[in-house]
Amino acid sequence: MSKYYAKKDIYSKDGRLLLASGQEISEKTLLRLKSLDCAEAIELVLQNEKGIYEQDIEESTRILKDNLNSKGIKYYEDASSIATKILYESKNQPWWIYINTLSNYVNWMYLHAINVSVMSIMMAKVRKLEILNEIALGAFLHDIGKLMIPKNIIQKPNKLSDIEMMYIKQHCDLGVSMVKDYNLNQIILNIISQHHEKPDGSGYPLGLQGEDIPVHSKIVMVADAIDAITSYRPYKLKKDLKTAIEELRQHTAKYPQDVIDAMSSLLL
Ligand SMILES: [Fe+2]
Ligand SMILES: [Fe+2]
Repeated sequence: MSKYYAKKDIYSKDGRLLLASGQEISEKTLLRLKSLDCAEAIELVLQNEKGIYEQDIEESTRILKDNLNSKGIKYYEDASSIATKILYESKNQPWWIYINTLSNYVNWMYLHAINVSVMSIMMAKVRKLEILNEIALGAFLHDIGKLMIPKNIIQKPNKLSDIEMMYIKQHCDLGVSMVKDYNLNQIILNIISQHHEKPDGSGYPLGLQGEDIPVHSKIVMVADAIDAITSYRPYKLKKDLKTAIEELRQHTAKYPQDVIDAMSSLLL
């Protein structure tokens, strides 16, 4: 039997919440929605739960997909099915609340988590790493600590003050503390805590250097930087993927060039 889920919150014409996003819809409820002539609501219903995540991934990675060569497309397809599986399986895990909250707190943070996850899996595949699931989940969760930072700082359209920057820099440690009781693999915890470190020691929170930063954290660091340059943010204009790669290439001490090579080998 087909399963139905609400893709978004569904409201009646008088503004009452009928179904919350992600809520399973029985055949009976579906019939009732149809009888209410709630055409808009019907459009928001998908036939299977996995399809919701496939669609989220498809929508948020459109720019990336348009810039891939034939090898990149193949890697993208594998990466997006791993990302879909990890999202789907996370639904029954205690950290789901954080992934779900990302989309409701600030929508571009959810799109960012998806993009960083898909790009990171692709780079990890180029590097022939066998920890793709861990990298996928670590990337989805890398910025969850930002859920503890006031929205007016996250969304600020101009330069952050020193104190606001100090708050932002806490998101790595906050993220780790949010999931510390969930028995997550150390690779995932590393990604959350280390994705703002830099090989020259100028990153945060610890100022780790070179080989002290494991490859999985370096991969998410690069994916995070690429997506931050190529996506919408309230405080800047977005640039294209090629420009992002060129910018990161200019900072040879700050970004691992071998990881950037892995990404550029997949681009047109
Ligand atoms: Fe971050
Ligand atoms: Fe990020």
